Amino acid sequence: MAAVLESTPQHLLGNGRPVTEELTLTKLKVTGSIPAELEGRFVRTGANPLSGTSAHPFFGDGMLHGVRLRDGKAQWYRNRYVQTPFIQNPSVDIMDPSVMMDMKSSKANTHVLGHAGKILALEEGHFPYVIDGDLNTVGATDFDGVLKGSFTAHPKICPVTGELLAFGYSAMEPYLRYLRVSAEGKLVQTENITVGGPTMMHDFNITQNHVIFMDLPAVFDMQLAMSGEMPIRWDESYPARLGVMPRNGNDAQVKWYEVNPCYVFHPMNSYEDGDRIVLDVARFSHIWRDSAMDFPPPDLWRWTIDTSTGKVSEVQIDDRSAEFPRVADSVIGLKHRFGYMMSMSQPGTPNDPMSASGAILKYDREKGKRTEIEFGRGRVGGESVFVPSANPKAEDDGYLMTYVYDAKSDSSSFVIMDAASMDNTPVASIDLPRVPSGFHGSWIPASVAD
Ligand SMILES: [Fe+2]
Repeated sequence: MAAVLESTPQHLLGNGRPVTEELTLTKLKVTGSIPAELEGRFVRTGANPLSGTSAHPFFGDGMLHGVRLRDGKAQWYRNRYVQTPFIQNPSVDIMDPSVMMDMKSSKANTHVLGHAGKILALEEGHFPYVIDGDLNTVGATDFDGVLKGSFTAHPKICPVTGELLAFGYSAMEPYLRYLRVSAEGKLVQTENITVGGPTMMHDFNITQNHVIFMDLPAVFDMQLAMSGEMPIRWDESYPARLGVMPRNGNDAQVKWYEVNPCYVFHPMNSYEDGDRIVLDVARFSHIWRDSAMDFPPPDLWRWTIDTSTGKVSEVQIDDRSAEFPRVADSVIGLKHRFGYMMSMSQPGTPNDPMSASGAILKYDREKGKRTEIEFGRGRVGGESVFVPSANPKAEDDGYLMTYVYDAKSDSSSFVIMDAASMDNTPVASIDLPRVPSGFHGSWIPASVAD
């Protein structure tokens, strides 16, 4: 056993172990009471290598884990591989350049969202995959032939217009393309955007009138790619900049603002405030500088761009390490009061999952306050997704949903927490088999996609 552990990459230990079976469970044990107003699906994806191993946490095959809620009941839990070329033919190598350039060769392991009647499983280097309501794969989409390159895993749905604002980045020129998808699901605008080089752009930001690109010093490295390693490295000489562009603008209209070198995988949210643009972000001082696993602890910062002076103020909001920031979908691009992050109260070690304990942090940006839900010893949650009540009376009137892994029982639960009270006791908890650690997901109301 010790020999197995020594040779197993850290990201595949504990709850990083992939699951091998695709399940459909309809007799689920519920503790508490599922609110009848929750009508839809929670779907999350993550990296679950079919072969049982992967060279990097980001390389595993996308597996969807979903729970369907209806009439106050948990109708089912399912887990399904997204049927990418890697599942259909396991000998396909993700680091093979011809595979990397084939836009259908997505791992679909990063994010899931519902837009214009479709459920999309996303990964940032390739086309989105369309999924049906039972988590079966329909196929890759190029938006009726209009999409010519990659599509980010972190597009933003504007709550005002219903548009899906996105981008795609590439190791080859054009390094960055802005993509605007209409509320009806048509890709209506594609703009090449000039950046400093082949930067890895994981996420971006929207406001009511603008999008903001993050041109940061994590860049594609062909030599690393050729050696089969994660092909991104930290570049001390690469200027870190934020690019602000009108939503229907073009490259010539992008205004760039310098920030201190750092990396941001995920912003919490951004919004306009007169001449200023405010961005709350989970900031890393650097990434991939010393190794492919070099991720110093990230924490919450606020960037405020003063568009009249061209300066950006950078303020650390909290020194507690946290990632996977989210806000209510209703305030994306608009002023938010509340944001939610995933944190560890005790980090634990991969070889001893009982030593870890996780928490959901809730930031009140109006009162400058942080509250938390503690999951307890040996219990770790994933990214929490805010879901509003049917007729919300406040921005935080609703629920936080996530999967929680319990190391003692080596099983998981799907929990629905009260976002307003942040009570440690779930509103409802659904017992599940083990759901491995994953990345991002969404609550997809039946009214959006069914
Ligand atoms: Fe992400």
